[in-house]
Amino acid sequence: MPSNSKTSILFVCLGNICRSPLADGIFTHLVNQQNLTHRFHIDSCGTGAWHVGNPPDPRSILAAAKHNIDLTTLRARQFDADRDPIEFDWIIPMDRSNHRELINQGTPKAKVRLMRSFDPTITTQKTPDVPDPYYGGDDGFDKIYEMLMRACEGLLCEIKDPA
Ligand code: 4NP
Repeated sequence: MPSNSKTSILFVCLGNICRSPLADGIFTHLVNQQNLTHRFHIDSCGTGAWHVGNPPDPRSILAAAKHNIDLTTLRARQFDADRDPIEFDWIIPMDRSNHRELINQGTPKAKVRLMRSFDPTITTQKTPDVPDPYYGGDDGFDKIYEMLMRACEGLLCEIKDPA
């Protein structure tokens, strides 16, 4: 990889207000902590358009703030099937439904990988989804924070030193 080229990563969920902004914030935090900010371009989006322009769900903002991660400047946008697969090296859906939608919209399979496939503590493919916390209780957001942290650590470990 040339030293001046950034690795670009797009986290994708349904609404872009709960899971993918949290993944975006956590991954950005890890990259900053490791002084790798200059190496990555990080973004998130949703396959749906309901919340375009909105900040993340207050419950995601709170779950992140408990760990000193600020999501308040993020704004939801919809996946762009024409541009995003060209702009991003990695497109990372939160669940199998998002994965199907990305493939249905023509995203090259080689760029798409489920978020939880990067979690080194998952030994089977029984739980490949980051569950949608939107209609659940507040504790769902702390659970997905932990899930996303493990997957983000695995993702960064896998891609920061390409073979
Ligand atoms: P997300 O959660 O995909 O993690 O952002 C959702 C947020 C909103 C809706 C669905 C899921 N919604 O139907 O409005």
